[in-house]
Amino acid sequence: MTNHINIHSNSGSSLWRESKTIIPGGNQLLSKRSEMFLPDLWPSYYKEARGIEVWDLDDNHYFDMSIMGIGTCPLGYANEAVNSAVKTAIDKGSMSTLNCHEEVELAKKLLELHPWFHQARFARTGGEACTIAVRTARAATGKDKVAFCGYHGWHDWYISANIDDGSHLNNQLLPGLAPNGVPKVLKGTAIPFHYGQAQELRQIVDQNLNEIGVIILEVARYKTVDVDFLHEVRDIATEIGAVLIFDEITSGFRACPGGMHRLFEIKPDVAVLGKAMGNGYPIAAVVGTSDIMEAAQDTFISSTYWTERIGFTAALEVICQFEENNVGDYLVKTGKELKVRLQSMFAALSLDIEVQGLDAGPAIMIKEDDALEIKTVFTQEMLKRGYLASTLIYLSTAHNNENLDGYLQTAKEVWTTIAAAVRGDSLVSMLEGPICHSGFKRLT
Ligand SMILES: Cc1ncc(COP(=O)(O)O)c(C=O)c1O
Repeated sequence: MTNHINIHSNSGSSLWRESKTIIPGGNQLLSKRSEMFLPDLWPSYYKEARGIEVWDLDDNHYFDMSIMGIGTCPLGYANEAVNSAVKTAIDKGSMSTLNCHEEVELAKKLLELHPWFHQARFARTGGEACTIAVRTARAATGKDKVAFCGYHGWHDWYISANIDDGSHLNNQLLPGLAPNGVPKVLKGTAIPFHYGQAQELRQIVDQNLNEIGVIILEVARYKTVDVDFLHEVRDIATEIGAVLIFDEITSGFRACPGGMHRLFEIKPDVAVLGKAMGNGYPIAAVVGTSDIMEAAQDTFISSTYWTERIGFTAALEVICQFEENNVGDYLVKTGKELKVRLQSMFAALSLDIEVQGLDAGPAIMIKEDDALEIKTVFTQEMLKRGYLASTLIYLSTAHNNENLDGYLQTAKEVWTTIAAAVRGDSLVSMLEGPICHSGFKRLT
């Protein structure tokens, strides 16, 4: 076993401890908290990130075989073409009293990719784009209630689902999302249903007759895309006159440029895009049919920095890269191969682990008892060997055969040790720090 990195002495973990005392929660994104990976031992901060390589504050070098900036960078970190376009935009002024023309160019490009839509609005983050979509859809239908499936951000309309019963969001993506501060009058306005369960949506519709104006869901995440389910949801939305929104913030820009629904011949009324669209630069879009999108003119939706130039510029370059280099095909092909190789490794080790999720974002679902302990030990042991690794791998064009082979070889060594420890009941003794968190928790 080769241990490259001393995980017990890292400037990043000390800075993280300090950060938690002056930034409530430590940072701005739950999924980047050290506690979500390896509490007390995670390097936490980076100095440089390039391709899939990351250097921490102590110049330790890692390959990122985890969430790649939470799924933001399908072209790898610091992609040269995107950076070059962005640098030009910066040099020419990223802000002015006048609007930047790239905004219109991006709208045209997204509408060309999704010819069933007629209009676009833009924001910078996924949660705010979902909120724009839901507000616009509510304005268009005049109905308050939203049926939803999946994760859609931190805003009141969504977190209100957990008022009174704090478990409503637990099976969507993140358990434990606390609704403190969300007005209690919103109770009952956001109603969850589960992926693949169209019958559950029908019941919600029956129980809230003529009140559901919006149905919003993720096209896919940890399960294979269920096209029949998506068709049924489309039918239900049409029957009741609700606006159907596909939240493609995570599924978009993985298998093709734009929304993954482009591949299935199912047309929502609105789609929301973000994350990977900017390859690390903030940009999010709401695209939809004009009958719905026009309602955005009847409600106040406006923000200063939604006009800055960098996000539009980055997105235009990302789309160009996807089209010219068949990025979607590469991510899907690479992910499919990785899934097969991981699954056969787990089978050979008799570990009850399934590899699921988007092809471009394989998810390692640990079905063994003590799943969180196993996940923590995996991350810990991979970190020592120079990998940022967890149970989710967002692929990028910077993941090549050589580094995937290297990852699999190292992962096999670690999973073999874990399998032996699981069988020998000695897993807990491998833990060198606390177990990772699975969802939202107060940190201090
Ligand atoms: C499907 C989906 N919707 C909304 C969001 C919220 O996006 P953001 O974190 O950019 O606000 C996310 C983020 O993970 C997401 O995956």
